[in-house]
Amino acid sequence: MIIAIDGTAASGKGTLGRNLAQSLGLAYLDTGQLYRAVGVAADARDIDIDAAPASDIASIAAELDLSQPFGDNLRTAHAAELASKVAAIPAVRAALVDKQRQFALNPPSGSGAILDGRDIGSVILPDADKKFFVDAAADIRAQRRFTELQAAGNECDFSEVLADIIKRDCRDKNRTIAPMTAVPDAFIIDSSDKNAEEVFRVAMDFLQEVPR
Ligand code: DC
Repeated sequence: MIIAIDGTAASGKGTLGRNLAQSLGLAYLDTGQLYRAVGVAADARDIDIDAAPASDIASIAAELDLSQPFGDNLRTAHAAELASKVAAIPAVRAALVDKQRQFALNPPSGSGAILDGRDIGSVILPDADKKFFVDAAADIRAQRRFTELQAAGNECDFSEVLADIIKRDCRDKNRTIAPMTAVPDAFIIDSSDKNAEEVFRVAMDFLQEVPR
């Protein structure tokens, strides 16, 4: 069983992915972490993402080990911004394609895999058994992210969090390479008025539907 989950930033796709993986006994990969790890590593090496040769950043992506533990330093707003920038570089995406497909085909645990990201149903796993696209109103997503950042002890301003989310969605949706998209065969979930449990229930109902 291979499940692709795509969606906007802070839409709840990661929580859905983790909950489904746990409940169905599948391995889970948050592919946003890969782009965050590449962006943060480039930044740590003082590489200017807007100006450096694409190959310098792609070589960081090529070295990335998916089995490493991804730290909390990747969950910051700065890491998200770096991730969205490196994610628009074709050579970076190319370096990560096979790693993601290998994870899905040979999951480290469980009887299948769930990957979440922006291009999973469209590019990485177009033949996935089931696909979801999760979205919610931007102000609601910003409120969730704001609460999360505050709980983690980060100083932040709601209007900045909202502006960051809108800017990131815009970049992710409008880039030329593998833009964020809801493929026609994705089951769309609007999580604006749903908590994590409700999103999980709706997704499980879809997975358990008997095909007619
Ligand atoms: O899901 P996230 O917020 O952790 O993703 C961080 C950034 O990485 C996001 O702005 C776009 C990029 N990304 C991508 O382009 N493709 C993916 N499959 C996953 C994330």
